[in-house]
Amino acid sequence: MSDRIANAKLRGKVMTADEAAQFVNHGDKVGVSGFTGAGYPKVLPTAIAERAKEAHAKGEEYMIDLFTGASTAPECDGVLAEADALRFRTPYQSDPILRGKINDGTTYYADYHLSELGMYVSQGFFGNMDVAIVEVTRITEEGHLVPSSSVGNNVEYLDAADKIIIEVNEWQSENLEGMADIYRIEPLPNRQPIPITKPGDRIGTTYIDIDVDKVVAVVKTNNEDRNAPFKPLDETSKQIAGNFLDFLEAEVAAGRLAYDKYIMQSGVGNVPNAVMSGLLDSKFENIKAYTEVIQDGMVDLIDAGKMTMASATSFSLSPEYAEKMNAEADRYAKSIVLRPQQISNHPEVVRRLGLIATNGLIEADIYGNVNSTNVTGSRMMNGVGGSADFTRNGFISSFITPSQAKNGDISAIVPFVSHVDHTEQDVKVIITEYGYADLRGLAPRQRVEKIIAIAHPDYRPVLEEYYSRALEAAKKNKTLQTPHDLETALSFHQRFMTHGSMMPQD
Ligand code: COA
Repeated sequence: MSDRIANAKLRGKVMTADEAAQFVNHGDKVGVSGFTGAGYPKVLPTAIAERAKEAHAKGEEYMIDLFTGASTAPECDGVLAEADALRFRTPYQSDPILRGKINDGTTYYADYHLSELGMYVSQGFFGNMDVAIVEVTRITEEGHLVPSSSVGNNVEYLDAADKIIIEVNEWQSENLEGMADIYRIEPLPNRQPIPITKPGDRIGTTYIDIDVDKVVAVVKTNNEDRNAPFKPLDETSKQIAGNFLDFLEAEVAAGRLAYDKYIMQSGVGNVPNAVMSGLLDSKFENIKAYTEVIQDGMVDLIDAGKMTMASATSFSLSPEYAEKMNAEADRYAKSIVLRPQQISNHPEVVRRLGLIATNGLIEADIYGNVNSTNVTGSRMMNGVGGSADFTRNGFISSFITPSQAKNGDISAIVPFVSHVDHTEQDVKVIITEYGYADLRGLAPRQRVEKIIAIAHPDYRPVLEEYYSRALEAAKKNKTLQTPHDLETALSFHQRFMTHGSMMPQD
């Protein structure tokens, strides 16, 4: 372990997690590493949660505002939420306990775009950042930090915070060194372009340089990244993957894409991961990714020689694949670059590269608006993550989803989304197990038939019936641009809330 803390001054700061947690006080704004179950601090959150529990037992207040890269894991978001230690949390999260605390009102949650949060912190939109807690794989002799399995917002939090606590995790492979590409965006105004023209371009350093004098504690750990395994591939996922491939093939036929020119962005979740399996047996070669997370499906594509370069900010791997990445990090480092999330998701670069964005959704409406976050309009699922960074700026923006959820009680296609994350202007293609709806070049009323055609067959008549009613109302009122019958536009959701199913009860 002493090799992993090569800087003499920082070696002198080594202490236990409980001692380090004393630097984190009630009311502090705390920025932590971690992105989709990778690279989050493994032991400080538990020690902070213990402080919170002790304070609460004495009738004292103890809550912090937590800033991350994206979702973390039970040992970070989970333990802090469970201890009622989170007053405020941003951005994307997916921990079930935290989700419960957000939805029961204990924790304020601000759902920012992942490309923007670091910039907001640097610009002081949240006020002073008190503490940064960042996991690293190694500290160099100069005191530079070698990131572990995610980069996220580490640079912005380390730069902004008054105090720094470093977790040096021996479980993380030392061969991750070299994968990171750390680049700081110049301050405003007159900012220069980010000099990335290809997904694999390296424009920065392999380490994060910090103000060593701000480090108050270094804590040694040896804990694995914890991520849930992906759901096994079922028939529906295979059909969605097949339809996604048909859509790509149609792009090739139309001359807009070549078999060796596909640059992908693939969202988080089971369905985007499943879609990648379809690419294994496709005609596409030399696939590149300019994306946010590296999931199992992408590792398979790299192993099969189908994917030649992947740029992301983090891994989001099942336990089995995380072990594999750790064991063979030096091999994978040849085809993977991990960047700060401001860069991995940057609108400027995304637009320039011309990538095809593919994300999951909660629901889409008959005109092409998409809700990715709020079930029935107000129950937070995970957050928008980076989906809008890529959707608005991609060359083609697609969404993939099973046509229904919860054993058919929920239709993914509804008359009117109960919350909007991606507007009809940004959504270009929607794909379910029943086909793909290509919305490009179509006005709202021209999209309806295509979208209803990919809804689950059980829900198609109910959607058609709604659209007829909306058209009638719109004809009377001369509101035919986006016809709606406001009295029943949310009837699917109301039925679900009242009867537990979106299907009409007779
Ligand atoms: N209403 C209620 N629940 C719904 C739903 C709906 N309309 N649609 C999906 N769900 C539930 C599923 O039932 C499932 O629940 P379970 O885990 O209890 O079985 C869960 O959401 C996940 O759905 P699944 O079909 O497995 O898809 P997924 O894992 O691909 O996740 C999202 C779908 C929308 C939740 C996920 O893509 C997401 O959080 N997206 C927003 C962020 C994003 O796109 N980031 C990518 C940026 S790179």
